[in-house]
Amino acid sequence: MRLVGKTALITGGANGIGLAACERFAEEGAQVIMADFDVVTGKAQEQLLKEQGFDVLFIQLDVVNRENIRSCVELAIETYGKIDILINNAGITRDATLVKMDPVDFAAVLDVNLTGVFNCTQAIVPYMLDKGYGKIINTSSVSGIYGNFGQTNYAATKAAVVGLTKTWAKEFGRRGINVNAVAPGFTVTSMVSKMPEKVIEQMKSAVSLQRLGTPRDIANAYLYLASEESDYVHGHVLHVDGGILM
Ligand code: NAI
Repeated sequence: MRLVGKTALITGGANGIGLAACERFAEEGAQVIMADFDVVTGKAQEQLLKEQGFDVLFIQLDVVNRENIRSCVELAIETYGKIDILINNAGITRDATLVKMDPVDFAAVLDVNLTGVFNCTQAIVPYMLDKGYGKIINTSSVSGIYGNFGQTNYAATKAAVVGLTKTWAKEFGRRGINVNAVAPGFTVTSMVSKMPEKVIEQMKSAVSLQRLGTPRDIANAYLYLASEESDYVHGHVLHVDGGILM
């Protein structure tokens, strides 16, 4: 029970890695705010977790909409009085090679994966500063570290998240807030399952452990960075990719 007494807001918490994180954090005793665009799945998952006795609250959130973020954060604070942990996990892909990439898709990915992280953190960090405590965990990707064919927009945002993480680590370290990132490798969620089977097989063979990641593999890394076990880890990008490139 590593997160007893802690309140965690997890963006993109209704599906995939975010959902695994909601489950994992709830198992460790946290009060979990599952914040997601997808109301139907979010409400259903909130119900399932509540039936297991976990303290989970679904709040609809669009990380692109600052007004919506403000009301989501207000409801979270009204309910729990604080947000100790922010997991900036929501993300999308709109893949195409550079030549074929629609500028609308380029901008959409920047909006969610980069501006969304800025929006949510800017809305929540004042509450952490007030308490002199916080854990912010951003979600990068192997694509952001090494680049990835067909992911100009996505790779750019995930590299940018590393820059945000290190900058915020410098800004907030002295105020009691840890800031780190996780860079997942290819992980079995809808983001990957919509890729062609051939590409998935190629990805698998590039991994030293010869398997794709599970959402729980990544959730466990979020958990480590959210727990006191990582109190002296700061401005770090934790690669959780089965040894994809070393
Ligand atoms: P997913 O597609 O399964 O889940 C993403 C969640 O984000 C969904 O619940 C969706 O409704 C939510 N979301 C999308 N746009 C939103 C918005 N504007 N506001 C609020 N919520 C929104 O994706 P997955 O795979 O679980 O990805 C989670 C994070 O991990 C993302 O940041 C992704 O880029 C990153 N990642 C995933 C990898 C993978 O192989 N699956 C690899 C590396 C990084």
